[in-house]
Amino acid sequence: MSSTDDLPPALPAMWRALKRGYEAAPSLLSVSLGLALAAALPDALLALWFKLLADGVLGGRRGLVTTAAVGLGVSAAATWFLRVISERTQRRFRDQVTIALESHVAWLQASVATVEHHERPVYLDRLAMLRNQVFVLDHMYMSLFTTCGWVLRLGVTVALLVSIHPALALLAAFALPTVLTSTWRPGVERAAEERGASANRLARHLFDVATTAPPGKEVRVTRIGARLVAQRRAAWERWYGPVAQARRRSAAWHALAWALFGAAYVGAVVFVASVLASPPGAVLLVLAAGSRLSAYIGGTVGEIGFLRGIWLEGSRRLAWLEDYAAAQSRGADVPAPDRLGDGIRFEHVSFAYPGTERLVLDDVDLRLAPGSVVAIVGENGAGKTTLVKLLCRLYQPTKGRILVDGAELARMPPATWRSRLAGAFQDFFRFEFRVRHTVGVGDLPRLDDRPAVAAAVERGGARDVVRQLAAGLETQLGSTWPEGVELSFGQWQKLALARGFMRERPLVLVLDEPTAALDAETEHALFERYAAAARGSDDRITILVSHRFSTVRMADFIVVLHGSRLVESGTHEALMARGGRYADLYRIQAAAYR
Ligand SMILES: Nc1ncnc2c1ncn2[C@@H]1O[C@H](COP(=O)(O)OP(=O)(O)OP(=O)(O)O)[C@@H](O)[C@H]1O
Ligand SMILES: [Mg+2]
Repeated sequence: MSSTDDLPPALPAMWRALKRGYEAAPSLLSVSLGLALAAALPDALLALWFKLLADGVLGGRRGLVTTAAVGLGVSAAATWFLRVISERTQRRFRDQVTIALESHVAWLQASVATVEHHERPVYLDRLAMLRNQVFVLDHMYMSLFTTCGWVLRLGVTVALLVSIHPALALLAAFALPTVLTSTWRPGVERAAEERGASANRLARHLFDVATTAPPGKEVRVTRIGARLVAQRRAAWERWYGPVAQARRRSAAWHALAWALFGAAYVGAVVFVASVLASPPGAVLLVLAAGSRLSAYIGGTVGEIGFLRGIWLEGSRRLAWLEDYAAAQSRGADVPAPDRLGDGIRFEHVSFAYPGTERLVLDDVDLRLAPGSVVAIVGENGAGKTTLVKLLCRLYQPTKGRILVDGAELARMPPATWRSRLAGAFQDFFRFEFRVRHTVGVGDLPRLDDRPAVAAAVERGGARDVVRQLAAGLETQLGSTWPEGVELSFGQWQKLALARGFMRERPLVLVLDEPTAALDAETEHALFERYAAAARGSDDRITILVSHRFSTVRMADFIVVLHGSRLVESGTHEALMARGGRYADLYRIQAAAYR
């Protein structure tokens, strides 16, 4: 496994997440921390006031009684007052930091140069957990403040106990097992959760399939609903069984540790009262401080456990994502060309999807000449889309290299290279915006350039789609939005095509079956236009993936993929004359149309 597969170490990751919080709201963070500490102190001093009060009453010392009473009153009032202010400040900090972190994570994910993290199970599980954890990241800062408060209380309480007899510090030592079990517990439970993460993800996915609109039609027609529900339940149980077991086991150890501390507490009280024969004030202090001690240790270990379980794991995943995103953009030291002189070469390119073994492209050698229209044909799963993805630098070849004008594509900054690309993908996305933005995002700098959008709609052959919409380019798409309009699949596809045509002068135009939902005639007419435009520009390469040979034959150069290998390439005439696979497939389709 490569180093990007491992999570970064815990403490530096926590420190980085802490710095993010500080960057988001520096003064609020400092004030919140200060207030959390200030609010902890009066509470911890209560045991002292009790002792002084008892000493004063039993010794008949009025001055001491008054001091203790005032101390008690001030402590109680200050505890309440500071807690209220501290909570308010913390809430404000929390709101600020939540939105800052959510934006950070969203930005990181969207900016990662390749799509591997969207497709690879181990990354998906990690990201799914991070996504959930982002929503509790704000609790983590609260938890940190609270922990500091607990530690302060604990320190004061131990100091009070030691003032009676140094041996009483041992009481804290007996609390150590509870600290250990608390810190160990969340890790164990989380490990169980992570082991079952894919079952959990499956359960959620099945729930989505059973309950959301896009699969709704097929779920009903196939009547797969009951099966989905049963499968979801089974997947959930596969996840929950081991998790519940891990929780039970760790809870048992935890209870044992607490029992040990309880025995030590009773022992301490007996020790002070009988062995030391201390005055009642001291016994009262030990009673009060000791009982507080258990609460404080409980609080501290609880918070530390929470911090460990969520903060630490969450911040490690966050740090991993940050490193991963950064690693993706490193080593880009060759500028992407503005024009193509020599064209694009695939040199012995082999590719297996990350995390898999099977070669989806096997030793593909290919030259794409500038100014040409290249068609890629092959059966389903032959690797056509994969080849296009490699060209878009969404993945790196496993072996071999792709050269653009002699320079290695892998060394070009992904963002600049992609600004040279345009086109439409087979699995295009339905951006539910206003039409002009759904199309305009194809060239962000010109998002609001209406004439440019209108021209792209024209080029993409989507004029009829827009004309049918009451508000034209201003129409909101997606029926779940106010006044939103739903389109047919083919209409969505035409808009996706128009989006692909927003960039007017791409070096490479990629059309991966963007017209599969259109009728053959429309596809033919569209491609004729693209081909003409491509030949008009002297260096643009147009790549066209289609299963329709009537379209394919218009290309200048045809590449035939079969079982992950490039088996033939050449012009339509040359391939027909060769009488190989292409000629066979062409004749079969032609015969079917006759
Ligand atoms: N994200 C992925 N992870 C792992 N394997 C994948 C992934 N995407 C595709 N594959 C595999 O790669 C092979 C080639 O897929 P590809 O999408 O390139 O085929 P295609 O030629 O475009 O097929 P179609 O005509 O159906 O679009 C397939 O066998 C598929 O199982
Ligand atoms: Mg495909």
